[in-house]
Amino acid sequence: MNAHDDTEAGRFWEDLYAGREARPLDAGPNAVLADVLTGLGEDLPPGDAVDLGCAEGADSTWLAGRGWTVLGVDVSATALERTRARAARAGVSDRVETEAHDLGRSFPIRSFDLVNAHYLQTPLEFPRARVLRRAAAAVRPNGLLLIVDHASVAPWSWNQGAVTFPTARTTLASLDLDPADWTEHRVEAADREATGPDGQVATVTDNVIALRRR
Ligand SMILES: C[S@@+](CC[C@H](N)C(=O)[O-])C[C@H]1O[C@@H](n2cnc3c(N)ncnc32)[C@H](O)[C@@H]1O
Repeated sequence: MNAHDDTEAGRFWEDLYAGREARPLDAGPNAVLADVLTGLGEDLPPGDAVDLGCAEGADSTWLAGRGWTVLGVDVSATALERTRARAARAGVSDRVETEAHDLGRSFPIRSFDLVNAHYLQTPLEFPRARVLRRAAAAVRPNGLLLIVDHASVAPWSWNQGAVTFPTARTTLASLDLDPADWTEHRVEAADREATGPDGQVATVTDNVIALRRR
């Protein structure tokens, strides 16, 4: 039994993953992660990374394939099991560990060269600003904090209600970071082409915050 099976977040996300098929093992990483890391190239050599809300491990496995040692964190035991299976299939098990956390309650006690928080969004009550501040605190000097959020609702999303997304600048302000300690690499809204579960294609918007710690 997962330590978080009895929290609201644990029950919600575990039911979601356990109730649906695993994503194909060849599903690639998030486009912005690949774009930012490829762009930084040797300026950000592989080191230790944490993937917050890693889901089924597409980003974690991709990072491990590029030489990163990755800690995948999620509240769902099924998601973490699938992350390990994906890493094994890709031959990078030795560089992917997983840890179960309800991030509203606990956080890995380590620091990292890359903290990836990709679509760490939930319909449940979640102390997001506090968790993202904790994420920033876990970034080592010269490391990268990458926060990418949905900033539009995809036409195939289950949630077609009126949703207001904070801008990248609003989220950045909520982190309350000392500007003397950080360099802005990207803080912006960015459109991308996305493909839905039935192959439908649409333009969606992400809010991207990529900061280097000095
Ligand atoms: C919208 S999904 C995004 C997953 C993945 N990072 C991606 O880019 O596709 C959010 C993920 O965060 C996880 N999550 C939600 N609330 C959480 C919490 N309180 N603690 C830890 N993980 C959580 C979910 O289980 C899910 O895998």
